Amino acid sequence: MMGIILLGPPGAGKGTQAKKLTEEFGIPQISTGDMLRAAVKSGTELGLTAKSFMDAGGLVPDEVVIGIVKERLALADCGKGFILDGFPRTIPQAQALDRAAAELGKEIGFVLSLEVDPVELMERLCGRRTCTGCGAMYHVKFNVPKAEGRCDKCGAPLVQRDDDKEETIRKRLDNYNRSTAPLLDYYKGTGKIRTVMASGDIDAIYRSIVGILR
Ligand code: AP5
Ligand code: MG
Ligand code: ZN
Repeated sequence: MMGIILLGPPGAGKGTQAKKLTEEFGIPQISTGDMLRAAVKSGTELGLTAKSFMDAGGLVPDEVVIGIVKERLALADCGKGFILDGFPRTIPQAQALDRAAAELGKEIGFVLSLEVDPVELMERLCGRRTCTGCGAMYHVKFNVPKAEGRCDKCGAPLVQRDDDKEETIRKRLDNYNRSTAPLLDYYKGTGKIRTVMASGDIDAIYRSIVGILR
């Protein structure tokens, strides 16, 4: 398996589907959002830089994100393939990824474009809950944990993400439309884009993704 890019607006299900792919195919999920949140939590310099942008629903500067992805891609576990979740998000990031992949001898096989009705995105994000232990994702209506407020997999408490407030979500969606949606044009000529209808049942969407990859 090669490198896969999951492209889609906030709430499209990038993280949800990436975790399932990781479990089945044993290739790592590279989520810039998760990496930045981990840096914020541990209070590193990177975290301090990133926090203000993230809290405002803005994008973290390209050079910062590009640096962390390049380092991550060079690690041994990316040898069999990798799933990029939330990167690239701007044209300069996509160009940097092309250069880094060439340098490291890696190939992007597919760009999966997850498409969901914008109204649904807001509902998904407002009801999202994340496990503080293992990062598993839940939803108060669409993906309900067995015990309220607790993770099915590890039992740790579930929390709401700081940037999942209606006002901030709106800004994230605006930024997606302005800065990230143009990537569909960027990749158009490569023959790597596949559209995934990403509304409906999580497992059904996952099966359609696996169908594309096989
Ligand atoms: P990031 O963490 O990447 O957030 P995002 O792109 O806004 O995407 P989300 O994680 O909110 O959505 P998702 O598509 O993963 O959906 P999920 O699977 O959780 O980035 C956060 C911030 O970090 C950015 O705003 C920016 O500041 C910074 N950043 C990150 N990368 C950057 C970059 N490259 N450059 C610059 N800045 C960067 O699903 C959402 C909810 O819906 C869940 O509750 C889930 O259970 C539910 N759900 C999923 N699928 C379904 C379904 N089929 N039906 C019903 N519910 C579903
Ligand atoms: Mg995510
Ligand atoms: Zn957990």
